[in-house]
Amino acid sequence: MKKIQVGLIGFGTVGSGLAQTLYEQKERLQRKVGTEIVLTQVADIMTDSLPEQFAGVKLTKDAGDIFSNPDIDIVVELIGGMEPARTFMLEAIKNGKHVVTANKALLSVHGKEIFEAAVANNVEVGFEASVGGGIPVIKSLKEGLVANRIESIMGIMNGTANYILTRMTDEGVPFDEVLKDAQEQGFAEADPTYDVEGIDTAHKLAILMTIAYGKHVHLDDINTEGISNITPVDIEFAKEFGCRIKLLAISRNHDTHVEARVHPTMVPNSHMLANINGAYNAIHFTGDTVGNVLLYGLGAGMMPTGSAVAADVVDIGRNILCNSINRVPALSYLPQHIGKPTITPMSELSGPYYFRI
Ligand code: HSE
Repeated sequence: MKKIQVGLIGFGTVGSGLAQTLYEQKERLQRKVGTEIVLTQVADIMTDSLPEQFAGVKLTKDAGDIFSNPDIDIVVELIGGMEPARTFMLEAIKNGKHVVTANKALLSVHGKEIFEAAVANNVEVGFEASVGGGIPVIKSLKEGLVANRIESIMGIMNGTANYILTRMTDEGVPFDEVLKDAQEQGFAEADPTYDVEGIDTAHKLAILMTIAYGKHVHLDDINTEGISNITPVDIEFAKEFGCRIKLLAISRNHDTHVEARVHPTMVPNSHMLANINGAYNAIHFTGDTVGNVLLYGLGAGMMPTGSAVAADVVDIGRNILCNSINRVPALSYLPQHIGKPTITPMSELSGPYYFRI
């Protein structure tokens, strides 16, 4: 039986989480897929040796060694950022490799180029880990909710921002101190500005909207405000109103246009989203057939995100084994995905800062 061979670019927090998951869950995955999933090669410019349990895995500093390795079926990009991640993804695709990424920043800006390259080269793009860490939100939206017109998407999509707001609210810890703690725990981005200014949340909303509405949504289409200006006084005011401040991503489908925004929001304590705390994320969809769906789980961190990346590797591995025609990326079946949705500017929205149930 053919083994599924994986090449990993980037052995940081999430890369190590994937390697550990493939190692620890080896037998379970083999049973579930029907063949072995092998981590064949790792490329990382900062790593001189791999931990003992990965003794059989080749290590290189040159990502090109992975694209040109004929044994590798799936290339996993976990270096983050725009370049060289974009070039690596496109090179891997051109070399006929399926690709898996957690890179929300890249997909929310260059998603169209990457998905079109994948269609042209008949390979898949897995991106489950790009939104919601360990929560299977992409699969739920793409597959579980496929028979729905998505009417709204709403949620807490950044673990770092939610962790900061939670500790500021419950313990009165100053912003900078909690941010440092989040960085030490491996939730925060390399540049935490993305977390605290709402940019990472907007990346994720762009990806979900693209799947939900079948049109490529670009990061620049989303009105975005972060939490860096939230002070203890704001938090106390929110408490007096019976609310907690949460960084929400909100999108509503108005048929002729869609609404898309990210901003701190006063959420009444009685609402489920007010009770999502720490590094947890929660994403709420409303579909015309299913009604309301709420997904909840750890939205960041080494092992939850590693679990989501491993799920994509397994999915693609299964497709390779059965030579499935599902070798197309998520969006290619959407007929109208060329062209931009019309986005409502923030200035035309009424009272976005108080949550309306
Ligand atoms: N920095 C991100 C967060 C990581 O805190 O949610 C997961 O995407």
